Parts: sequence; C-alpha cells; structure tokens
Amino acid sequence: VSEAQKDLLVDRVLVKAHFIAAMVFLGIGLLSGFLFSLQFLQKYPFPGIELLSPGRIRMVHTSTVAYGFIVNAFLGALNWAIPRLTGNKTCHRYLGWFIFVAWQLVLLSTFFGIILGFAQGVEWAETPTFIDPIVVVGLICVAVNFLTPIIRTGNKNLYVSLWYFSVAFIWTILVYIMGNFFPEYFVPGAAGAALAGLFIHDLVGLLVTPIGWGLMYYFVPIIMRKPIWSHGLSLVGFWGLAFFYPLNGIHHFFYSPIPMYLQYGAVISTIAVELVVTTVVVNFFITLGRQFGMLQPKLALRWFYMGMLLYFITCLQCSFQTTLTFQRIIHFSDWVVGHAHLVMFGVFGFWIFGMNNYLWPRLTGNEWYSRRLNEWHYWLSVVSLWVMVIDLTAAGLVQGFLWKSLALWEESLTASVPFWLIRSISGTGILVAQFILFYNMVRTALGHKSAEKVNVGAVSQAHGAA
Ligand code: HEM
Repeated sequence: VSEAQKDLLVDRVLVKAHFIAAMVFLGIGLLSGFLFSLQFLQKYPFPGIELLSPGRIRMVHTSTVAYGFIVNAFLGALNWAIPRLTGNKTCHRYLGWFIFVAWQLVLLSTFFGIILGFAQGVEWAETPTFIDPIVVVGLICVAVNFLTPIIRTGNKNLYVSLWYFSVAFIWTILVYIMGNFFPEYFVPGAAGAALAGLFIHDLVGLLVTPIGWGLMYYFVPIIMRKPIWSHGLSLVGFWGLAFFYPLNGIHHFFYSPIPMYLQYGAVISTIAVELVVTTVVVNFFITLGRQFGMLQPKLALRWFYMGMLLYFITCLQCSFQTTLTFQRIIHFSDWVVGHAHLVMFGVFGFWIFGMNNYLWPRLTGNEWYSRRLNEWHYWLSVVSLWVMVIDLTAAGLVQGFLWKSLALWEESLTASVPFWLIRSISGTGILVAQFILFYNMVRTALGHKSAEKVNVGAVSQAHGAA
C-alpha cells in the first residue's frame, strides 16, 4: 500500500477532533488539580460553595485527566495507527464519529454529575451509575470499530502493536463492568474492595498500558526508520503483561481484611511485572542504540524515551512499594500521589505529547509554529513533574515516619504544608507548560506566515511510515 493510499484510510479530521478534545480536557483537569491543591494550603478560592466543593473538584481532576485527556488522545492515535498498520479502514466512518460524540457527552455528563453530587462511591469508578451502562455500550462500539480492520487483515502473524490493541479493547469492557457494577450491586464488603482494587489497577494495566505500549511499538520505529530490535522480546513483554498484570490490583489494599494469600499474590505479581517491563524497556533502548543524538532534533522521540525512562522508574518504585515493609510507611501518604503523577502524567501524558508532536503538523498541514515553544513545553513539563514527584515522595516519607512514631496527626499536617506548597508551585509550572503547548497548537493550526505547507503524504514517506 502506497503512502497516498494509507493517507486515504485515515479520517484525519476525526483524529484531530480527538486530540483537540484531549487538550481541552487536559486544561480542565489541570485547573481542577491546581484548585484542589490550594485546599491543602487553606487557600481554596470557593469555600462553602457546595457545587465546587474540593472533594468534587478532586474527582473532576482524576476523571478528566484519565478519561478526557488520556482516553481521547489514545482514541485519536488509534484512529491514525490501526488503518495504517492493517491497510484497512476502521469499521465505519460514522461509527468513529458516533464514538467521538458519545464519548464527549459521557465526559460532560460525568463532569456535571460529579459537580451536582451524583458521583458513584467507588474509587476511580466515580462516573455516576446512570452513565455506566452507556459507557459499556460505547466501549463495545470502540471494540467493533477497531477490531474490524484487524480481523479483516486475515493475517495470523500480527505486529505486536495489534496484539496489544486487540486485547485492550476486550479487557477494557470486562474491567469496566467488573469495577463499576460488581462492588456496587453484587459483591459488598471486603470482597467488593478486592474487586475495586483489581479495577483500579487494571484500568492502568489493561487499558492504558497496552494501548500506550502498542502505540510506542508503532511510532518509535516509524520515527527512527528502523524496526524494533527484537520481535521475540516484544512478545515476552506482551504475554508477561497479560499473565501478571491482572493480579496486581490487590496491592492497593494491603493490611486489609482481604485474605493474605491474595495480598502475597499481589506482591509477587507486582514484582514480576517489573521484570517484564525491563524486557520491554531494554528492547526499546537497544533499538535506540547509539543513535542518542536523534533525541535532540526529534522531539517526539525525546518525549517517548523520557516517558519510557519514567515508566521504568515507576515500575521499579512499584516493586519496592508493594512490599509489606514499605507499605508500613507509605500507605495513605503522599508518596502514592507522587507515584500516580509519575505514571499518569510522566509516562502516558508524555507519550501523548510525543504523538501530538508528530501528528499535529500532519493533521493541520502546517509545520509547527514555533520549535522554541515546543522546547519550552518539554523542559517546563519535565522539570515541573520531577519537582512534583520528588516533593510528594519526600512528603510521603515524612508523613509515614511521623505516623509510625505515633506523633500527633496535627504534627504531620504541619510538617506537610511546605511540601504541599511546592506541589502547587510545580503544578503551576505544569499548567504554564500546557498553555504554551495549546498556544503553539492553535497558531500552528491557524497557519502562519513562515509556515511551509506540509505535504502529509510526502512527510509520512520521508519518515518511512509503517
Ligand atoms: C497542575 C498540575 C497538577 C496538580 C496541581 C495536581 C494536583 C493533584 C492533587 C492535589 C491530587 C489529590 C491528592 C490527594 O487527594 O491527596 C491529585 C491526584 C491525582 N492526580 Fe493530579 N495534579 C496535577 C496534574 C495531574 C496530571 C497531568 C495528571 C495525569 C495526567 C494527574 C493525575 C492524578 C491522579 C491519577 C491522581 C490520583 C492520585 C491518587 O489517588 O493516589 N494530575 N492531583
């Protein structure tokens, strides 16, 4: 299939729409995260207003960054990658648009549902209960839309990206049903908490991770114009994830009434995931080999590799923090919040910025308005994230040791305030960085005097697109 033909397979307007929506929700998510961080400093700007109460704003923060930013951007990237990888269009153009519109409606109703006080009382499943069945229908539509071109290839030797994508679509439907319906209606108490724990972690491990890695296996070879180092190793990563990840979730509830054999199982499988992740990261770094110099001019690649480094660190951190010894100190502390930002923003957020960096000129037909603003976006995001993570990790240790020494609760709060202040400052850095990106994206889309019109086909060819 020629490059021009591949271009015809992709509904570029739809990809663009998903990326724009992703950035809008990132903006809302960041503003709400920042607002909530002010509550810790007793500077919350809307005290006493029920609709904007901090607890609700926290749920707006987590649900918009996960479902609004990450999922929207992934849907956009999948709409680009799957037709190009399979040589087939997605099931139907209208189905793609239906999914786009339905997903934004789900996000908006979740937003208003939470603000109005209808959140579901299950962690990470806060989407109001009346929206849950609609989400399941939407997820089935996503599976049909993307699995159709994969099945149509009739190829039994699928590229590893397609393995990851295919299972992610099926897993996500099952995971969503498990987390949103079972603890609420069928399995109360500790058993429900065990399922909720599995749900929390499976959202990361069976939705975001396989799609994220699948996209890395697609974009990195294209940009580097060389195949991934080892196909065999990529399959080790795939099967290792499929085997070990689903058991991890209980590690959210150590020292709870959940049977100890499940808790020990979670310790072992979490450490096993670190070993699996190492094979994946090694594969990518050997692919990069001595071509480190490429990371300077190719900003998308730099985002990807920084994300991979952070992924390795997150999983390494995970294999320590999953031990019962570590748990005695860090459980319920800000260490966990630092870890969450490292993986959600530092890994998946950074990968999305890399994809956006590569795709936006191809979607708009214009070169980036400003390379320098892109560099600012990169460095300000990376530095601010590092500051936030180191700060929250240290805060977690201080809190954990104070609690262990049976110090007064108030004492741990007083000790935490400087860390919370640094979190809000680093959060401001993250916010400013993203507004730089949004400005650059808008200027790029509007076109600019110095812009060289980008011939999408020619650019894809130059990059040796898959
Ligand atoms: C302006 C930047 C940000 C600020 C100031 C911020 C602030 C916060 C705060 C205050 C919390 C609640 C912590 C608690 O309850 O103790 C939180 C939670 C969370 N944030 Fe952010 N955030 C920011 C950006 C992001 C981004 C970009 C992402 C992901 C892409 C993200 C993902 C999360 C997640 C997953 C949690 C839940 C953590 C947990 O429950 O352990 N945040 N954030």
